[in-house]
Amino acid sequence: TQAESNTNKGGFQAVGTVAQLDKNKQLLNKNSPVGAVLVVRTTSGSKLSAVNPTCTHAGCAVNWAAKSQQFVCPCHGSRFGADGKVLNGPAAKPLKTYQAKIEGDSVLVNG
Ligand code: FES
Repeated sequence: TQAESNTNKGGFQAVGTVAQLDKNKQLLNKNSPVGAVLVVRTTSGSKLSAVNPTCTHAGCAVNWAAKSQQFVCPCHGSRFGADGKVLNGPAAKPLKTYQAKIEGDSVLVNG
C-alpha cells in the first residue's frame, strides 16, 4: 500500500517531479519521506546530486550555487562540493548525501 511504501526505509522514494527539478535545476523538499532533501542537476554529465541541506556546522539550510557547482551555507560561509564533501569551513563534516535517480516523471532518492 501507499502507507507502507512511505514508511519503507532503505528504498528509493519519490521526493518530487522532474518538472520541478528542471524548472530551477534544483528541487527542495523539506518534508520528503527521507526528511529534508535538496536534489540538483550538476553540469558534469548532468548527473544528479542529492543531499540533506542542513549545514553540519550549525544547522542553516545550504543553497546550491550552480555557477560554482557547490552547496553554500549563508550563515558562516561553509562550502560543500556536489558530493557533499567540505570544501571550506567552518563546517567539518560532509553533508549527508543520498543516491538519486529519475524514474518516469518522478525524482527518487534512496533514504
Ligand atoms: Fe553553515 Fe555555520 S551553519 S556555516
